[in-house]
Amino acid sequence: MATLSVPAISGTTSRGAYDPKLQRDRKGRSLLAGNGGSRNRPNVSPKQIHAEADDGRFLIADIASARSVKNIRDNPAVCVSLIDVFLQRGRKLEGVAEIIAPDHPDFAALSAPLLAMTGGSFPIRHVIAVRVERSAPILAPSYTFYPERSEADLRADAYRTYGVRPLGE
Ligand SMILES: Cc1cc2nc3c(=O)[nH]c(=O)nc-3n(C[C@H](O)[C@H](O)[C@H](O)COP(=O)(O)O)c2cc1C
Repeated sequence: MATLSVPAISGTTSRGAYDPKLQRDRKGRSLLAGNGGSRNRPNVSPKQIHAEADDGRFLIADIASARSVKNIRDNPAVCVSLIDVFLQRGRKLEGVAEIIAPDHPDFAALSAPLLAMTGGSFPIRHVIAVRVERSAPILAPSYTFYPERSEADLRADAYRTYGVRPLGE
């Protein structure tokens, strides 16, 4: 995934009172759908600092994401969306997250690639380690409705939309 991808942990819900809809969610389906009560609200927030562990787990830095951490502790089922905004495509990952605190024996190894991304500019409070159970592509509708359009066309569109140009042009 390109460095511009920003994963959002979506649908991390605090468990709260028993809710049959939430039981469905915890099996990994429809995580964003049907969480009704105020204590079962889904939560989405962007995370730029992420990496893949040697064992395939998807690692995310908790730098300032207190509610994500709290909700994952309550209910570890998560959905992560990764989007390359210029290519207009990405992946959706569903899985089970573990909060790795600094006193965990693997914290140093798991936080190392994340610290490398920040250059040490931000302290990492926890590592959110997601064991991915399902992964699916995310495509902008342009891929379906205008299949004849090239990657270069899509990039050019995105540059116009965001009012940017690649360095060197
Ligand atoms: C572009 C962008 C990237 C961010 N990257 C991270 C990150 O890697 N880790 C982190 O903990 N917070 C990151 N944040 C900040 C959190 O998204 C923000 O503090 C959010 O309010 C946390 O919400 P939560 O406590 O509900 O999880 C980022 C924010 C933005 C806008």
